[in-house]
Amino acid sequence: MKKTLLLGCLLLVLAPVVSYGFFNLPPLPPPEEYGNLLINRTSEKNGMKPVTFSHWIHRQEHTCRVCHFELEFNMKVNTTEITEKTNKAGLHCGAPGCHDGKTVFGHEKPHCEKCHNGNRASGKEKFAEVSARLPRAGFGNKIDWAKARNKRLIIPAHYLTLKPARDVKFTNKLMLEAEWPNVPPAYFPHKSHIQWLDCNNCHPDIFNIKKKTTKHFEMARILKGEFCGVCHLSVAFPMDDCKACHPGIKSK
Ligand code: HEC
Ligand code: HEC
Ligand code: HEC
Ligand code: HEC
Ligand code: HEC
Repeated sequence: MKKTLLLGCLLLVLAPVVSYGFFNLPPLPPPEEYGNLLINRTSEKNGMKPVTFSHWIHRQEHTCRVCHFELEFNMKVNTTEITEKTNKAGLHCGAPGCHDGKTVFGHEKPHCEKCHNGNRASGKEKFAEVSARLPRAGFGNKIDWAKARNKRLIIPAHYLTLKPARDVKFTNKLMLEAEWPNVPPAYFPHKSHIQWLDCNNCHPDIFNIKKKTTKHFEMARILKGEFCGVCHLSVAFPMDDCKACHPGIKSK
């Protein structure tokens, strides 16, 4: 009994004061470039400039589920086998309702450079107008996308043809207690995620489907792009926003 009490006191004394500056976070691009990608798996090898892709432009109209589940884009740049042929055949960017030449510009000669322009900042001129219309956040695009969605300031389509199963509604908010002492817990709200994602986007590849059973679930790994870091480093609000996940931690 005495021993555990002593150990407890020791831990309290040694426990670091966890705050914003505790981890080395990767540098952030300017808000209008957060979530913008240059796709160049094969473009330059085939004499074309890399393709620009902007998440903030696209996510106003479609949820992540549409592209990362229905259209089978991977959540890692340059890993999906997108070609001019697949696009022209109605897959990937060329899916019906997308860059099919009817809904929005397609894959004909005058349009090549709208995508193949090698410019990560392309679309920049539209950003001020979009961000002025939507609620503010501290980091990333500096847009509170969850709020924008809840207030129906944007109404992104959740499917093209493949509706999510109606009976799959899981809205539990999980409290994920850290393994370290004195660290305010992180919360994971299912509700805010299934507005954007399919269960399959996370289960079982990224997370086990039982609370606190995912192995090596810790900040060091998250900051390397695993677990929450699959999305919360590059597209969803970044890891800098400690408070959004750990309401008890001080953010910058
Ligand atoms: C809506 C966006 C978009 C438009 C418009 C577009 N492409 Fe692409 N294209 C892509 C994407 C995305 C890739 C995959 C890039 C990569 O992985 O490097 C790609 C890949 C390619 C590739 C390399 C792979 C392959 O098929 O050999 C070529 C060549 C290409 N496109 C040519 C064209 C030409 C020519 C045009 C105009 C006639 C065009 N593209 C229009 C998005 C587009
Ligand atoms: C209109 C289609 C589209 C939508 C909507 C979309 N994405 Fe993407 N996303 C892509 C494409 C295309 C890539 C690049 C894939 C490749 O190069 O293999 C990508 C890549 C990513 C990556 C990898 C980034 C990197 O640096 O490697 C992440 C993470 C990601 N998306 C998350 C999301 C999240 C979260 C949402 C919803 C908020 C979302 N995406 C919405 C098309 C989309
Ligand atoms: C953005 C990622 C993400 C999405 C999307 C997601 N989940 Fe989860 N889910 C999690 C995480 C994280 C955990 C906790 C894992 C852990 O602690 O090891 C979890 C845990 C669970 C659990 C276990 C809860 C408990 O108390 O043990 C169930 C059941 C579950 N999810 C069902 C679903 C269903 C059904 C969907 C789709 C409607 C879904 N999840 C979508 C991330 C996600
Ligand atoms: C597959 C992508 C993905 C993964 C993995 C993921 N998230 Fe998210 N998360 C999102 C998206 C998209 C949003 C919407 C807000 C945004 O884009 O900034 C979001 C929003 C949130 C919100 C804000 C909810 C609100 O209503 O304001 C919290 C909190 C959150 N995530 C915590 C987590 C935690 C904790 C984990 C890991 C256990 C995690 N997320 C894993 C994509 C993801
Ligand atoms: C996207 C959500 C998210 C954000 C943002 C976030 N964390 Fe975490 N954090 C987590 C999750 C999830 C865990 C692990 C919980 C568990 O063990 O199940 C965690 C764990 C921790 C731990 C415990 C040690 C460890 O590595 O597991 C510390 C300390 C911590 N976070 C500090 C921070 C600080 C400081 C920030 C801001 C710079 C921050 N976190 C931002 C989700 C987040």
